[in-house]
Amino acid sequence: MQTIKQYVEDNKQRLLDELFALLRFPSVSADPKYKPEVLKTADYVAQKLVDAGAEKVEVCQTAGYPIVYGEKIIDASKPTVLVYGHYDVQPADPLELWKTPPFEPTVRDGKIYARGACDDKGQFYMHVKAFELMMQTSTLPCNIKFMIEGEEEVGSNNLGIFVKENKNRLKADVVLISDTSMISMENPSLETGLRGLSYLEVEVVGPNRDLHSGVYGGAVANPATILAKMIASLHDENNHVNIPGFYDKVINLTPEERAALNAAPYDEEEYKKDLDIAEVWGEKGYSTLERTGTRPTLEVNGIWGGYIGEGAKTVLPSKANAKISMRLVPNQTSEEITKLFTEHFESIAPASVKVTVTPHHGGEPVVTPTDSIAYKAAQKAIAESFGKEPIPTRGGGSIPIVALFEAELGIKTVLMGFGLDSDALHSPNEKYDIYNYYKGIETIPLFHKYFAELSETK
Ligand code: BES
Ligand code: MN
Ligand code: MN
Repeated sequence: MQTIKQYVEDNKQRLLDELFALLRFPSVSADPKYKPEVLKTADYVAQKLVDAGAEKVEVCQTAGYPIVYGEKIIDASKPTVLVYGHYDVQPADPLELWKTPPFEPTVRDGKIYARGACDDKGQFYMHVKAFELMMQTSTLPCNIKFMIEGEEEVGSNNLGIFVKENKNRLKADVVLISDTSMISMENPSLETGLRGLSYLEVEVVGPNRDLHSGVYGGAVANPATILAKMIASLHDENNHVNIPGFYDKVINLTPEERAALNAAPYDEEEYKKDLDIAEVWGEKGYSTLERTGTRPTLEVNGIWGGYIGEGAKTVLPSKANAKISMRLVPNQTSEEITKLFTEHFESIAPASVKVTVTPHHGGEPVVTPTDSIAYKAAQKAIAESFGKEPIPTRGGGSIPIVALFEAELGIKTVLMGFGLDSDALHSPNEKYDIYNYYKGIETIPLFHKYFAELSETK
């Protein structure tokens, strides 16, 4: 631990400068206009892996953005950790709400403000630097492989193919990911589950052109009104999702499991204050922690139609659209839920409009084991560096690759995230605490150490 702390102390400024350089690349995978920048980011990551001491570093081309691979095999008989992360980021919009430019990292109050600061550049880069630390101090205790992708924020569509085609290269004993949150620095935690996702877009079309709302209004169905009604009907009066069959496959938690999850620190007043809301909302009969961690949900991510420019325009729009996502829990599958949604949504459309549902992408839910050597190694590492045992939690977000690694490679994952829910992932003014960044770099070598040690005494 002393060697680790000393290394971080001696290299403090450089560790930060390099992260800042990474954050300056606007690697937005969703928007094609950033393509050259996304590609440059992949090259930067590859170079940093080389600099840190990785071998066989390769920027692997896919049908989309490349996957950066690198490894250091010290001894074939030792266990192997596969580190996964993503160098792409969400769009920075709405730009006007950022206090400082999203791609010019700025420190305020000990926190780095930039798009990707936490999700996931700040977090995956801790692994690159922890690897460098282990190489420089000759303390790398196991084999390590890196796989840093550039399409996580758009559904990792080409990753499945890459994983299938590179089974041998990706062989490992555990996948280690820092792309989730902790409760707080005082209450360190480990996520033990992620929800799945089914993302789709709907379109409701009425008349064949925009109409004068006085001449035709009242006589022709307004697609915006129809869409709003259809969406409103997707939750019942208890805020259950109102799609036939939606809950059929859901595995209900035992009373003991529910009690354990609800024992995690959670302050509802703080929660409401942080979001400036008067009341929380959700499925009747469940707590907030259960609603986000263990229950499937349906959200409207965006809705539009008709005139939304300056001033007023009296128009009856020809069409209206919405982007809708559903978060899934074990044992729902994105394919089945997408099918159930589509059938239901089409069935509730009145004859006055035409409805189309277009699926975007999906991901499967996972629960990660808490009795594995790798989980125990993460527990020990966190207990040592934070001085407190981590609390197991269930995360509400999705990382589609986790279920894929399990299905294709038979490898389980440890989610050792150092972010905070308040880090404003996907929102304006995303941040990452400098403290968390260094803390992560200090904790990761301990994970490798304990993973190697515990594997030997297995
Ligand atoms: N890192 C997040 C997922 C996350 C955040 C998990 C916080 C747990 C806690 C990831 O980058 C992400 O945003 N995933 C997307 C899914 C993807 C298919 C677009 C998500 O959860 O919306
Ligand atoms: Mn992420
Ligand atoms: Mn994300």
